Amino acid sequence: MKILITGGAGFIGSNLTKRLVNDGHEVIVLDNLLRGNKLDREVFAKIKFINGDVRDFDIVKSLSVGCDVIYHFAAVLGVDVVADAPVETMDVEVIGTRNVVMAAEQNNVGKILYASTSGIYGHSAIESALTEEVLVDPRTSYAMAKRYNEIYLASHHEEKGLNTIALRFFNVYGENQDNRMVVPRFFEQAIKGKNITVFGSGEQTRDFTYIDDTIEACVRLMDITGYHVVNIANEAEWDIEKLAIEIKKITKSNSKIVYIDAPKKRYDYEVERRVGSSEKLKNLIGMKPDTDLTEGLKIIYDKKFKK
Ligand SMILES: NC(=O)c1ccc[n+]([C@@H]2O[C@H](COP(=O)([O-])OP(=O)(O)OC[C@H]3O[C@@H](n4cnc5c(N)ncnc54)[C@H](O)[C@@H]3O)[C@@H](O)[C@H]2O)c1
Repeated sequence: MKILITGGAGFIGSNLTKRLVNDGHEVIVLDNLLRGNKLDREVFAKIKFINGDVRDFDIVKSLSVGCDVIYHFAAVLGVDVVADAPVETMDVEVIGTRNVVMAAEQNNVGKILYASTSGIYGHSAIESALTEEVLVDPRTSYAMAKRYNEIYLASHHEEKGLNTIALRFFNVYGENQDNRMVVPRFFEQAIKGKNITVFGSGEQTRDFTYIDDTIEACVRLMDITGYHVVNIANEAEWDIEKLAIEIKKITKSNSKIVYIDAPKKRYDYEVERRVGSSEKLKNLIGMKPDTDLTEGLKIIYDKKFKK
């Protein structure tokens, strides 16, 4: 198949590009390299790469000619980055997604898989793992725009029959991630023997999903038609203190774990608990992410840091 990936030079996008190239697909990547280029050299040689902006309709339209599928992953993210640039964050989401949808409709592209986020659950009450039916509660510019786009895609499905899937990723971690995110940040601090800095008490929880499981789900979802919002979650709740302890153990680090107040700009993003259900995903594609966090962290350590 011919596949366009926006944001394909980023963390998740570069892993997806590699997998799709290895599976024999023709891949086009559109990325403005805001976060640098995370694509392997061998993969890069096998794709068509365009350094451009998803906010530019003409580029998106011309690149999607003849495509069967678009993975739309281009975004501005990372709590600190988003807090400092909420307008760019929302513009890339809203204008970028509109461009992708318009281009897909004009070029008869069969399907769009859009990277949404578990962040849209915000402070939703959590008695058990969050399902897609839970009333969402987006509060940040990033989460609001992601939620808007989910509804925008649903509307295009209803009115125009576009096949679209909104992927609600839960804290993806793994190869090629940079230290805007907590897992690589803790690894770096632990390896360098610096203090491992935990915001707040460390009792806040997240659901960490290993990159290979995430990619497997993204690839299998290519075969699903209709409109779906679907969690991609590991279904395991880990608190941040436990994550720090685990990384310290795996790296055999002497770093101290220290607890600091989160910067004020992070307040809106601070959520006490987050864990997702992947039941719907399993019903759709027959699998759920199942790499245990300890196992995933050991893989990262072995690949990246072990001498
Ligand atoms: N990593 C996670 O845990 C996570 C969780 C929830 C949702 N997501 C979503 O998944 C997608 C991929 O995230 P990621 O972790 O790979 O992030 P990333 O920052 O590594 O990748 C995003 C890519 O988009 C590119 N980009 C940004 N603005 C662009 C623009 N205007 N035009 C073209 N390219 C642009 C960046 O250069 C980058 O390569 C994003 O949409 C993100 O919101 C990620």
